[in-house]
Amino acid sequence: MTDKAVSGDWFLPAPTVEAGWLLLRRPEPDDSSALHDAVAASSEHLRPWMPWAANYTAEMAREFVQRNAAKPGNPPVPEASYLVWDRDRRLLGVCGLHARLGPGALEIGYWVDVRRTRRGVATLAAAALSELALAIAGVQAVEIHHDRANQASGAIPARLGYELVAMVADEPEAPAEAGVEMQWRMTLSGWPDSDGARLLQAARTATS
Ligand SMILES: CC(C)(COP(=O)(O)OP(=O)(O)OC[C@H]1O[C@@H](n2cnc3c(N)ncnc32)[C@H](O)[C@@H]1OP(=O)(O)O)[C@@H](O)C(=O)NCCC(=O)NCCS
Repeated sequence: MTDKAVSGDWFLPAPTVEAGWLLLRRPEPDDSSALHDAVAASSEHLRPWMPWAANYTAEMAREFVQRNAAKPGNPPVPEASYLVWDRDRRLLGVCGLHARLGPGALEIGYWVDVRRTRRGVATLAAAALSELALAIAGVQAVEIHHDRANQASGAIPARLGYELVAMVADEPEAPAEAGVEMQWRMTLSGWPDSDGARLLQAARTATS
């Protein structure tokens, strides 16, 4: 693993992560139309939780891809998004790592194309990002936060063996939010024997 934390919590993101039947890859310019298609098809599904998904334009997809593409020399970043693909090169969703929790911790975010939900995509992608985050020098914990009303999102850290560490009042930012943020944490020491690590290992074994 070449990643390491630099300059506070900024980190050097790996360009790709293999996760069995999934591949996580930093966006590239050619990806913008697939991204636009996935968001447009999923608009009703995403909007309750992600207001940016309303009226998502081709220009917004291009801007996202450009902003999140790996830069020459792979400089340290405060956040890294990954497009999630299957082996038939279909775009399934997007996930990312964010250095916004303070020293020693990164946060995972995700969404999945409505045409690809309930197949374990978000769970496996989050397992892969958990491993990636906890392999970065200086990172002691990785967290997943979601609104209490978002039960689908909460099922993912629970399945990976994260611990629910806090429930915090939080001003709703999206239409379906109840205003209580659930905060789940996986520690560096807890990861190797977690359900998430086992799930990832099983997915890799099944496709090797
Ligand atoms: C939340 C989300 C990412 C889940 O993606 P996914 O790939 O379907 O999730 P998985 O298939 O890995 O689901 C794992 C488990 O979560 C639970 N789950 C997933 N979708 C669910 C739903 N719509 N309702 C209830 N539980 C759900 C189930 O327990 C599921 O396992 P099961 O299908 O075996 O019952 C997806 O629904 C989504 O994109 N939602 C909108 C965006 C969003 O809320 N992002 C997170 C913001 S914090």
